[in-house]
Amino acid sequence: MTSTQTLILWVLIFCNLFLNVKLLENGLARKPPMGWMSWGYYQCSVDCENNPSKCLNEKLLLSVADKFYSEGYMEAGFEYIIIDDCWSEKRRNQFGRLVPDKKRFPRGMKYIADYIHKRGMKFGMYTNIAKKTCMGYPGSRGYFKPDANMFARWGVDYLKVDGCFVDENFLNVAYIKLGEHIDAAERPMVYSCSWPYYIEFIHNKKPNYTTVAQHCNMWRNYHDVALSWDAVKAIITHYKDAYTELSPHHGPGKWNDPDMLILGTGALTDSQSRVQVSVYAMLSAPLLLSCDMDQLTANERELLTNLDLMAIAQDPLGVMARPYELTNSITLWVKPHLPKKGDAYNSVSFALVNLAPEDTTVSLAPGRYGLNSTDGYTIMDIFARTFLRNITLNETLNLTVPAEDVILYTLYPL
Ligand code: GLA
Repeated sequence: MTSTQTLILWVLIFCNLFLNVKLLENGLARKPPMGWMSWGYYQCSVDCENNPSKCLNEKLLLSVADKFYSEGYMEAGFEYIIIDDCWSEKRRNQFGRLVPDKKRFPRGMKYIADYIHKRGMKFGMYTNIAKKTCMGYPGSRGYFKPDANMFARWGVDYLKVDGCFVDENFLNVAYIKLGEHIDAAERPMVYSCSWPYYIEFIHNKKPNYTTVAQHCNMWRNYHDVALSWDAVKAIITHYKDAYTELSPHHGPGKWNDPDMLILGTGALTDSQSRVQVSVYAMLSAPLLLSCDMDQLTANERELLTNLDLMAIAQDPLGVMARPYELTNSITLWVKPHLPKKGDAYNSVSFALVNLAPEDTTVSLAPGRYGLNSTDGYTIMDIFARTFLRNITLNETLNLTVPAEDVILYTLYPL
């Protein structure tokens, strides 16, 4: 060991022992998590007697696992099946434990986790950092350690922790504390925090993303997605505007989370669905569907199982695409990713996103956006799944982006 290496080692030991500087290196979520989460579509659908077709229960979770397994979603990377709020009884039991709703989850959560694990997928659950969840079910305040251990015992692989009903000082302390208990529990669990969302939008302060990224594997930044194209546009616009603030903290093990995909809910046209998935893939955002899996259209299924698109979403470098506003309605998102040619030349994806309701023509000179292979690039059209043509660094493409749609090209260095 050189003297510099010895010095670095001592500094690390010092920080660890005396300053309690801690990084979340739980080895999880090296790629943005993909899966399904109940909230966006099912919300708090607990009235199963009157509405059996929209009911948050065991059958629903098992059926998502079956669909992922048998319809190609699992092969495409969809892995986590996550139940959000409204899963428990209204009160803890006499030992202070959370109890799954006895009617809707008669065999408990471990049964569901085992079922999902047997099929090679992962299970996620939800709690809130306060005494109650956002919908008024028991939350984890006062029970961080027993709850973390209980989730671990049930076989939970991912924990979403919401932040309703507490002040910002509590948020800043409690997310770190609960994270330590999750880390110390026997089972590795992805820690998904809503912390910065509440700091920024409920308490009107700037989130400290350096701290958040040290303690959480992913975190919400913006309002809940509603089931509408307007909500999707607002999220995309927020990420465009917040790129400079968010992108330095984004990468393997730590992801900004723009909330769920709403494909399969009937809220989006096929082209709008393409926009939502493409932008999320370009951002390296978590891809969490929230829908009745039977309602996904054939086009949506094709999109979600498009392996070239999912390779962009799951690229190991995990770079958040950079936005360039080309016109009022067209944003170009540019994302470097693997494979590389040699050490120096990344592949790069370009997404031309049109949020406006009319077709728009733009000229695109890819060479202006950080491309460096002087031998040029070959272009693949991700949706047509074909190679288009080769291009040199100083060529320009004239492209018409249809209304509320996206053109997505990957350029591989020649
Ligand atoms: C908040 C969260 C949502 C969902 C609900 C559940 O609104 O942001 O994602 O978890 O609470 O009550």
